[in-house]
Amino acid sequence: MKTIVLAYHNIGCIGINALLDHGYEIQAVFTHEDDPHEAVWFESVAELAAANGIPVYAPEDINHPLWVERIRNLAPDQIFSFYYRHMVGPEILAIPSQGCMNLHGSLLPRYRGRCPVNWALVNGETETGVTLHHMTPRPDDGDIVGQKQVSIHETDTALTLHHKIGTAAEGLLAALLPEILAGRAPRIPQDNAMASYFGGRRPEDGQIDWTRSAHDVRNLIRAVTRPYPGAFSFLGTRKCLFWDVAETPSVPDAPPGTILSIDPLCIACGTDAVEVRYGQEENGLYMRGTQLAQEMKLAPGMLFDGKTESVVGVRRKRHILILGVNGFIGNHLSKRLLDSGRYEVHGMDLRSDCIQDLIAHPDFHYKEGDISIMREWIEYHVRKCDIVLPLVAIATPIEYVRNPLRVFELDFEENLRIVRYCVKYKKRLIFPSTSEVYGMCADDEFDEDRSNFVLGPIHKQRWIYSCSKQMLDRVIWAYGKTQGLPFTIFRPFNWVGPKLDSLKSARIGSSRVITQFILNLVEGSPIRLVDGGLQKRCFTDYRDGVECLFKIIEDKNGQCNGQIFNIGNPDNEYSMADLADILREKFAAHPRRSQFPPDSGTECIEARTYYGDGYQDVQHRRPSIRLSQKILGWTPTVPFEQSVAETLEYFLNSVAVVETQE
Ligand code: UGA
Repeated sequence: MKTIVLAYHNIGCIGINALLDHGYEIQAVFTHEDDPHEAVWFESVAELAAANGIPVYAPEDINHPLWVERIRNLAPDQIFSFYYRHMVGPEILAIPSQGCMNLHGSLLPRYRGRCPVNWALVNGETETGVTLHHMTPRPDDGDIVGQKQVSIHETDTALTLHHKIGTAAEGLLAALLPEILAGRAPRIPQDNAMASYFGGRRPEDGQIDWTRSAHDVRNLIRAVTRPYPGAFSFLGTRKCLFWDVAETPSVPDAPPGTILSIDPLCIACGTDAVEVRYGQEENGLYMRGTQLAQEMKLAPGMLFDGKTESVVGVRRKRHILILGVNGFIGNHLSKRLLDSGRYEVHGMDLRSDCIQDLIAHPDFHYKEGDISIMREWIEYHVRKCDIVLPLVAIATPIEYVRNPLRVFELDFEENLRIVRYCVKYKKRLIFPSTSEVYGMCADDEFDEDRSNFVLGPIHKQRWIYSCSKQMLDRVIWAYGKTQGLPFTIFRPFNWVGPKLDSLKSARIGSSRVITQFILNLVEGSPIRLVDGGLQKRCFTDYRDGVECLFKIIEDKNGQCNGQIFNIGNPDNEYSMADLADILREKFAAHPRRSQFPPDSGTECIEARTYYGDGYQDVQHRRPSIRLSQKILGWTPTVPFEQSVAETLEYFLNSVAVVETQE
């Protein structure tokens, strides 16, 4: 059978050898170039392929059309993947007549995703295994061909377990490859309800949390011990690596991380303690725990602290610069950041009416000002802060048509300056792109990596906003690639909630649709359904949106750099006519309904009459949130009706406040 193999690591070699042993004709091997930042302790797939006279390639993107074409020309009957690290797209999956199979180091559907061996140990599992399964465009969820169980002993480390998995893989392939050749291999669907998914691990993930039990701490240590980067902790500024520890029974009351004795070297955990058998100071030698205690001059009572941020015992809050802090996203996000107690927020805006509740907070530093004037202040603060969020933009469609140049100047030119400060001072930029960049894309779901941007002709000025944001996305991406700018781009999809624009801005037509409709109800004027109101949006509650953004800022898994995330709720898809109905219903049932004029219903209006000639619209705008779910573990939860009710409540109250003030 003609086969193409995608492979890396020892398991890659095991897979190739098994195929050769069973008479498969391997036409080509695809592998990876070794990562200079990763300790390479495993066998080389490239060398094995070369030794067997098989052509070997390591494309940066195997899904690039050129490579897809080459693979198609080879016309393989089957593709096998053994520890290949990149996702394989649908074009390649569709090529081989007998399909594509992948060998995964767990008992699927459990432990889908990355690093299954390390994660199984971190989680203290007592068994795992290997699975050969059919590939789909999603990670590890295709039908199972066969599995082999492996038991995990409490002395296993990532390396020993890896070898056990390798042996199991040999056995599994020896059993299944003849069946596959004979066309008799079984095909059992996975039970998705039993699935679990784990992401990649980085060296930083080896930091020990001493508040966990001694059992958990030991599991982490054996999950990442040599040849992996190791579990570690800090004593003041000194970093110490722990290669092997034993659990010791419970100890007198002492805070987690406290050194209890130095011979043996014992450290208190959340429950019980660990005895350090082997460890080393960073850049020092591997040695026994007792010697380590002597060399590092450790003494009982000293405290290992779990946090890298702790320099000489003081945990520093991260400083974040938010330009446009009084805006819809700025004010809600600032509150979330301050509530976490982990950030100091430096914010600038023209006004401060929406942040009155934050102004007195000790970690909130507000500056009134215009970003196109206060350039020195901004440059100084970019330099001083850790993270920069430039949220200033004109973001209401009628302004794109009325004031296209102002949109370009503010949304593009002024923001470009800030992007460049981030490049200059190497600061992490979190940039608000927009759902509008996808324009009139016809995809059912707009995907950050795959969807095309579709904009109308130049005289349709509505797209100047989309185009300005798109260009900045591209510039930021290029700065990331060529000059190492750390960045994350996010794309809000019709976030709604209190403080989204204002009734005052709605009076001149310059607000987003929900605020506009609420103004109509409050004034007793008809709700105007542009072009009949059948166009749809996926409305996203601001709390869901802000939570996702907070996760990006926190970046717990360190996977946000260089990423673009849609932040939207695909389940909250409603037409403008639906929105009008829901709002009118909620308004009618509101306790203060009688204080407002009668409902004038809805009327249809042509887009041209409402917005002018330069307007053009998109009929649906639904986000794919696969990346936010996978990388950030985020899923929106707030139902639309709730968002509508609370937004209405907020604006009706704001009317009451204004009336009282008058
Ligand atoms: C908006 C804005 O461009 C940006 O703030 C943002 O980037 C993006 O959405 C987003 O939040 O995802 P759009 O959804 O077109 O774009 O803006 P809205 O003003 O909220 O209008 C939504 C729909 O309501 C449009 O189809 C519009 O024609 C319609 N509409 C608006 C009415 O039918 N009647 C009105 O009185 C106002």
